[in-house]
Amino acid sequence: MEKREQLYAGKAKSVFLCDQPDRLVMEFRDDTSAFDGEKKEKLARKGLVNNYFNAFIMEHLAAAGVATHFVERVSATASLVKRLDMYPVECVVRNVTAGSICRRLGVAEGQDLDPPTFEFFLKNDALHDPMVNEYHIRAFGWAPEAAVARMKEQTFLVNGILKALFRSAGLLLVDYKLEFGAFDGEVLLGDEFSPDGCRLWDLETRQKMDKDRFRQGLGGVVEAYEEVAGRLGIPLP
Ligand code: TMP
Ligand code: ASP
Repeated sequence: MEKREQLYAGKAKSVFLCDQPDRLVMEFRDDTSAFDGEKKEKLARKGLVNNYFNAFIMEHLAAAGVATHFVERVSATASLVKRLDMYPVECVVRNVTAGSICRRLGVAEGQDLDPPTFEFFLKNDALHDPMVNEYHIRAFGWAPEAAVARMKEQTFLVNGILKALFRSAGLLLVDYKLEFGAFDGEVLLGDEFSPDGCRLWDLETRQKMDKDRFRQGLGGVVEAYEEVAGRLGIPLP
């Protein structure tokens, strides 16, 4: 595999073309951003840790029957993925209240949600990723109906798999965000999964082990990510 020119740079990852037209190279950078890019910092080793973390989770999901874009890790900070046609929406499942649901609904953090909730957000930083529903997705043609159903089903399937995985490592999967895209007529999970895009709390102490440490200025961000990786048995260089 030969890496070619950069296709685009997101807030924490850069995406490159390569010699295979239906593949992309996803490079995890140390850049960390929150509040739609308002707060930014470089955190040493975060790119490497997230790349290894993501590869481990993607392989675990694939083994459990979730179709993803992930092909293989190709360097310390980069992975090869299938080139998808992304739907511009984010799928969020919550098992416990935290973050925007507390602000929107005026509820306290840390309440169990049974059943877990599902929310769609439009991927648009300028509009602060507004919440949308299936009617908006259909009316504006952001994704076909079958893809909407598939995104929901796959996002919930991931919940069962990852809740159990994190629980076995003494962690509570509070919530997470996933994105999907089309590839050869199939809907595939086309996102990273790392502590940047989910909330993970220690089961006993409820200590935050995810990007909320950065959002809330708690410090020890990458240290917490490495602790989570260690508990999952992910060997980091
Ligand atoms: P929220 O509480 O801010 O709505 O976020 C819910 C979860 O989804 C949380 O784990 C963070 C993640 N998320 C992202 O990673 N990127 C996003 O743009 C959004 C809206 C949420
Ligand atoms: N809204 C997401 C977060 O706070 C992404 C971002 O703001 O850049 O993590």
